[in-house]
Amino acid sequence: MKQKVILDVDTGLDDAAALFLAAGAKELDIVAIIATAGNVGLDKTVENTLNVIETTGLKCPVFAGSDRPLVRQAVEAGDFHGETGLDGPVFGKRVIQELQEEDGISALIRLIKTYPKEITVISVGPLTDLAHALQKEPALPSLVKEIVVMSGSFSGGNVTEDAEFNAYADPEAAKIVFSSGAPLVMLSLDITRTVTLTRERLDYLRMIEGRSAEVFSQCMDTYMANYESKKFGWPQMHDPLCVAYVMDRSKFVAEYKRVVVDTNSVSPSYGMTSKENLDGTGGVTIPTDIDRAWFWEMMERSLRNLP
Ligand code: BDR
Ligand code: CA
Repeated sequence: MKQKVILDVDTGLDDAAALFLAAGAKELDIVAIIATAGNVGLDKTVENTLNVIETTGLKCPVFAGSDRPLVRQAVEAGDFHGETGLDGPVFGKRVIQELQEEDGISALIRLIKTYPKEITVISVGPLTDLAHALQKEPALPSLVKEIVVMSGSFSGGNVTEDAEFNAYADPEAAKIVFSSGAPLVMLSLDITRTVTLTRERLDYLRMIEGRSAEVFSQCMDTYMANYESKKFGWPQMHDPLCVAYVMDRSKFVAEYKRVVVDTNSVSPSYGMTSKENLDGTGGVTIPTDIDRAWFWEMMERSLRNLP
């Protein structure tokens, strides 16, 4: 049976890769997609999400989530993703996709309640929407099947010395989610930065027929150029790893720990995540290694499955 998922994205170049991977995966049934503010402002992440989903031909509803973090001033990551958040591809007029009227947080709660213990939420942006949903519906941790997030780092950040972007963009929300008691999986920078896209692989994937592979390649061209100009090495496939985990967790090695978020806004380590040993429950599953060859097979398979 297909796994029901809701994706919460701040589309974003690697978010787009995650959407292509999910849309082409036969293991997943995408129930809804929520765009949230993060890499760029909400108007842009909504637009980017609608355009990517239109490209895949998927007919699932797209909602708008939060337009700002819970407490802090917004921080963005346009230097990695470009001014639009999805610099590279040019999209025409949409004919399938339009934004739903219902707000993303209400939709998230409604859908999890409609399918108790069946929905996995994949969140690859700041955790603002999930935090709002957990505050509005305290029963959510026992109703959701699992929450899989790209967030945090235990070995240095990519936005400050200590903090990873999604955790730093809304540390107060991350704290609510990590301490919610919901079944949680955390794909941190420690694993996501080990999966990188080389030029050779991109040129191979570019040969796949169809508009989805074309848009994916144009996104990755920009992502690669931005990494290159920052001298950051090959581009890191953060967000698609969360989708890959839900497709087949047996391809990952994981540990189980408690995760703590620094929410001291005047500390230099604001937004930093750290892990502690624990006995019993209340922890977070933290994948520490992945079968990288399998990941790229899945990326290729999804792109071949899409128009
Ligand atoms: C995360 O930050 C964003 O810029 C990416 O889309 C990813 O979700 C990596 O730190
Ligand atoms: Ca993201």
